[in-house]
Amino acid sequence: MFEVRVPMTSANVGCGFDTLGMAFQIYSVFTFEKNEKLEFYGFDKQFCNENNLVYIAFKKALEYLNKPIIGVKISVKEQAPIARGLGSSATCVVAGIYGAYLLTNTEINKNEILKIATEIEGHPDNVAPAIFGNLCASCSVDGNPYNVQYDVDERFNFIALIPNFETKTEEARKALPKELNFKDAIYSLSRLGIVLKSFENYDTEILKNILDDKIHEPYRKLLIHEYDEVRNICESIDSCGFFISGSGSTLINIIKDEKNLNEITEKLKSLKYEWKAIITKVDKKGTIFTL
Ligand code: HSE
Repeated sequence: MFEVRVPMTSANVGCGFDTLGMAFQIYSVFTFEKNEKLEFYGFDKQFCNENNLVYIAFKKALEYLNKPIIGVKISVKEQAPIARGLGSSATCVVAGIYGAYLLTNTEINKNEILKIATEIEGHPDNVAPAIFGNLCASCSVDGNPYNVQYDVDERFNFIALIPNFETKTEEARKALPKELNFKDAIYSLSRLGIVLKSFENYDTEILKNILDDKIHEPYRKLLIHEYDEVRNICESIDSCGFFISGSGSTLINIIKDEKNLNEITEKLKSLKYEWKAIITKVDKKGTIFTL
């Protein structure tokens, strides 16, 4: 039996729309064991069939490896919150591919896994940090993923503010304009390189001033109830960067002093929706497995 642990991710990070992705120390954990038939354990009933995304990825990877489809028992031990912009589907896809590699004794090749995962997901921005960890900048050219990693300074504390409502990526994409204003594109693009260095150098003052985005956040924040209220609470206490995790509904606030978590949590209680605040650091390992 193999256990596979995959970090949750935010893909996008501020002005890095559809390219920057960050892995956090919040995980989905799955186990895989050879079995006579296909079996699931721990998933909601609706996912206990061949349409389970972990299994779809498992089968796809076996095809890619030219291996026969084998019976498997897939269990979920911990699962990322779904439809909250924390890359839950990426964790399923990456875990399924790892399952196929491990159960067929195939040597793990992260670049190859990125290629298969990108084919399944359609884009590499979540799966790249889920596989490699840290802060990734990725793109796909003619279906081939390209990915580079940036090392985020350990001192950064991220608060994932997870509400009790969902946003669907499909709807969040529909909320985007069909055409992009030239000035807005430059607004975001010109900040990107500096954002990367600020994460590496722990440049909290610069980060606070330049993480902002005009490509997707102005449109998507309208879909997230109490976005302004949550942001105002964070900024009145401790915030050196605030962004929508993926396509929402989770928001990420970067704080300097982890002791400020309690005050933020207290203030969030005054809001109408329920906001769960989880403090975390960047994950540096990406996907790992144990026997
Ligand atoms: N970058 C994508 C988006 C990620 O923002 O739509 C969604 O998973």
